[in-house]
Amino acid sequence: MTDPRHMSPQRIAVLPGDGIGKDVTREAMKVLAAAAETFGLELVLDELPWDADRYLETGESLPEGALDDFRRRYAAIFIGAYGDPRVPDMKHAADILLGIRFGLDLYINLRPIKLFDERHCPLKGKGLDDVDLVVFRENTEGAYVGAGGVFKKGTADEIAVQEEIHTRKGVERIVRAAFDYARSHRRRRVCMCDKSNVMRHAHDLWQRCFAEVAAEYPEIETQHLYVDALAMQLVKSPERFDVVVTNNMFGDILTDLGAAIQGGLGLAASANLHPGRVSMFEPVHGSAPKYAGTGRANPMGAILSAALMLDFLGHGDAAAAIEAAVAAAMRADRTTPDLGGGLSTGEVGDAVAAAVRG
Ligand code: NAD
Ligand code: IPM
Ligand code: MN
Repeated sequence: MTDPRHMSPQRIAVLPGDGIGKDVTREAMKVLAAAAETFGLELVLDELPWDADRYLETGESLPEGALDDFRRRYAAIFIGAYGDPRVPDMKHAADILLGIRFGLDLYINLRPIKLFDERHCPLKGKGLDDVDLVVFRENTEGAYVGAGGVFKKGTADEIAVQEEIHTRKGVERIVRAAFDYARSHRRRRVCMCDKSNVMRHAHDLWQRCFAEVAAEYPEIETQHLYVDALAMQLVKSPERFDVVVTNNMFGDILTDLGAAIQGGLGLAASANLHPGRVSMFEPVHGSAPKYAGTGRANPMGAILSAALMLDFLGHGDAAAAIEAAVAAAMRADRTTPDLGGGLSTGEVGDAVAAAVRG
């Protein structure tokens, strides 16, 4: 397998998906093109139109051979968002999104929670330095494995079982990834979040793995909070957190909370990683069908996800330029209505792209 950073050119699979996924991806690609031009990057963008329309017409979600193709030919994958009200069981979205996360073994879901403009923080008295943490969400196990079943469905005696899977390998590698990140990014503290007071089996495994791995990083301070307490502290004292590591489901929930304290879901970015392999980048938000095609979707989360992608591909300078351009657009109120601005999705993309070009 080729390390994506060493491919030339770096080929990126672009899956806009459904709803506002298409709207925000267009802007993220616009900004990516501006960064490529400015920083002399050789990127090739291949758009793959795997959306709900296509699924409803053909019955195909993630095409056969797609994962192999990603592994062989692509440096990264960019996704807008999936989900369509005409597919209530989320079949195509699960096949594609979770299919890629699981199929490519992208075990790290890295989600920064960073405030770029303190006017958008809903917490009283909190500034830029107070909201700056990174969540390491386990991305291949836990409640997301789909283990379980239904018995006597539709009857009064129905039984539904949904099991979680936590493996030593899976827990250890995400905890290690959090500590490695803390070490390489000069973060002081790693907080592990679980519910080990109730989930005595699975989360006790987390406790033991955390203690063992932490011992290898003596310079990093450790912290532990049950998820209920962490949710409360994230609102009360976000400055207490640097790096948080947690399981798949808790990470999903906490990062929507995190998005709210950084200014809203439209701003939150994420990276689905397996170091050294093709990885996937996407905003944290969903397809928000009510805003699809209206020009109201904030593209900044998608744009910041593209910046994470560039960073992962070895272009830290271009990534930093995109982040700075987003922050500048926010400060100048060149924003969509969710941030109180009067610009459309496309106009925000134009403003950020222009700032990247300098
Ligand atoms: P959502 O994130 O799509 O939207 C929730 C609300 O957040 C929206 O109504 C809107 O008010 C706001 N919002 C989200 N993104 C925004 C943006 N870019 N700009 C401005 N406002 C924004 O979540 P939902 O309504 O629970 O889910 C809609 C669909 O998306 C469902 O099918 C769901 O399963 C799916 N979903 C997909 C992903 C993904 O593809 N990664 C993530 C979450 C939800
Ligand atoms: C996210 C989303 C997904 C998740 C859904 C759409 C499967 O909410 O990326 O946060 O739960 O992981
Ligand atoms: Mn989510």
